[in-house]
Amino acid sequence: MIPQRLIQLCNERIAPYPCEGFVYGKGPLSPVLMFVGEAPGETEIHNGIPFSGRAGRYFDGFLQELGVTRSDVYVTSAVRSRPYKWGKPKGREERKYNRTPNQKEIAAHAPILDAEIELIQPSIIVPMGRTAYQRLLGKSPRMTEVTGHLIAAPVLKLENWETRSYTFTNTNYQLFPIYHPAAALYKRSLETDISAHLEKLKQYLP
Ligand code: URA
Repeated sequence: MIPQRLIQLCNERIAPYPCEGFVYGKGPLSPVLMFVGEAPGETEIHNGIPFSGRAGRYFDGFLQELGVTRSDVYVTSAVRSRPYKWGKPKGREERKYNRTPNQKEIAAHAPILDAEIELIQPSIIVPMGRTAYQRLLGKSPRMTEVTGHLIAAPVLKLENWETRSYTFTNTNYQLFPIYHPAAALYKRSLETDISAHLEKLKQYLP
């Protein structure tokens, strides 16, 4: 549904950076929610399914709490390739680690997310974590301050790749930012807040 030439262009732009693979957004054209993550990890680039690795188990838990299935929702991310860095655990072989995408990588793939939002016109967008929040809303707040609230706001779309400048859409979207599923992996104490947020989000579903 996203033109191949657009995907090709975005992949040419990200090619100079240490990113590998490509994962398509997944879901129906009229989803009840559009989830936006950060970038796929190792598992995802091998099987092509967003949120199928460790964070995916938490993501599936989110869906369960919301009472929806993967076929009800659209799942995508700010960057569609896996940003990696090389590292060497003590006494072991050097290997690739996931890392947060940088602003150039996010801008390289921005037109794909822009096109998905334009095509799907999601009734509620759910940015998961700071990268998705910043990509869509331009600010980088403390997640504790912005998660769990429904807001109506325009979202950013890439205006100029050369200067990496974005512009806000003319229309407002409804957004409900939540923590990234991986956040609960690292900080178990967030689980209570996450559950409360999902409970609230559930009330906005059709
Ligand atoms: N994080 C994401 O943002 N997407 C995935 O598919 C996996 C982890």
